[in-house]
Amino acid sequence: MTDSVPQASPSSDAALSPPARVVRAQLSATERLVQVAQELSTVRELREIMSVVRDAARELTGADGATFVLREGKNCFYADENAIAPLWKGRRFPITGCISGWVMLNKQAAVIEDIYADPRIPHEAYRPTFVRSLAMVPIRTSSPVGAIGNYWAEPHLATDGEVKLLRALADLTSVALENAQLYGQLQQRIGQAQDAVRTREEFISIAAHELRTPLTALLLQLQRLEGLSRQGAAHDERLPECAARATAGAQRLAALIDGLLDATQLSHGGIIQLKLEEFDLVEAARDVLERFAAAARSASCELQLNAQSAVRGYWDRLRLEQVLTNLLSNALKYGRGKPIRVTIEGRGEGVSVEVSDQGVGIAPDLAGKIFERFGRVGPIAHSGGLGLGLYLAREVLDAHGGSIRFWSKPNQGCTFTFDLPLRASAKSSAATHSVA
Ligand SMILES: Nc1ncnc2c1ncn2[C@@H]1O[C@H](COP(=O)(O)OP(=O)(O)OP(=O)(O)O)[C@@H](O)[C@H]1O
Ligand SMILES: [Mg+2]
Repeated sequence: MTDSVPQASPSSDAALSPPARVVRAQLSATERLVQVAQELSTVRELREIMSVVRDAARELTGADGATFVLREGKNCFYADENAIAPLWKGRRFPITGCISGWVMLNKQAAVIEDIYADPRIPHEAYRPTFVRSLAMVPIRTSSPVGAIGNYWAEPHLATDGEVKLLRALADLTSVALENAQLYGQLQQRIGQAQDAVRTREEFISIAAHELRTPLTALLLQLQRLEGLSRQGAAHDERLPECAARATAGAQRLAALIDGLLDATQLSHGGIIQLKLEEFDLVEAARDVLERFAAAARSASCELQLNAQSAVRGYWDRLRLEQVLTNLLSNALKYGRGKPIRVTIEGRGEGVSVEVSDQGVGIAPDLAGKIFERFGRVGPIAHSGGLGLGLYLAREVLDAHGGSIRFWSKPNQGCTFTFDLPLRASAKSSAATHSVA
């Protein structure tokens, strides 16, 4: 190897002395490298980096072709090229069976004057090409992520100067690749942060709307009560009804706020604290159904309870009532006024509870999301509610060592089924330290 830097020299070079020609060639190569550094500093995508590098690689050495190879685990991917005739763009070769693989594994350049005399070359892959000689350098010497190849149609032994230029180009490429990766990560983080802010804002506006509705009803009833008491109507028959409506509004508000608090606590890694006691789940379900009687009447829904006998177990009563409440309120909301059936069946060591409606059902594209918390998938398609009911139900059942699933057909209805062990199991016993 000599130290000259052969260049596609301008014709005026003929008038220069040989040392002056070398200096001039070095100068123009340096200028080209500076230009490459500038171009690479403005590009952000791998595709653009490869395009700048493959063109520069060929120009810097005056080669007949250049390739940009990326390491993909145990393969070398010939990702891009600029050559007088097609090489291997888009093809993959095993890292142990090609020269770019050798360069990456050995972390050093390869210079080959006669490729057919070199055992590191897969000759079959080269036969259809123009290539007689090559020079290849790794991108990043510590742990190569790729390689840059130069190819000549006539026998050519790449000079030290040419290899140095390719190495300098590989160093610039490595910095550009790292920048592109950092830039990509940064963009992704910014995107995630923006999504989180948008989701939160959307959620706050839904929550505010949901809280406003019962509050308005409550205010209305309180104003009526105030009006009646001003009139001195202490025994007016409208008073109890007004008071009952005000209480219902306040209860709805309290339930919404509890749900929000639960969800916030869980989203910060908290767990549902269970207060275990022995009780009959059928009796608890009957209580919940009774509380729904007025709502069911106004939705023209018939509520049925199917249970052969009492099913006693050791659970958190308020929490399981909350699960049933959430399932029943959904069934009423989406049940189109058709009958709703609750079935409770003791099964050996456990109990299975079904809440079944004949309403609109769940669209297949929503099916995977309904148990998610608002924060994970964004607020669920909104039809009055925070999108928290099923999420909290699943968390409560999970804390008991139970599980929940559903079956649904659009326009035929939904059946939610949850299973519980008769005694909250090991998982929940960790959560039972606060047992009353
Ligand atoms: N019985 C049902 N029939 C049809 N769709 C249902 C039924 N139950 C749940 N869904 C769908 O699942 C979504 C999530 O239900 P979930 O109870 O978690 O939230 P929500 O009812 O919208 O609000 P929240 O319960 O917090 O007031 C609902 O918005 C609805 O699209
Ligand atoms: Mg709900």
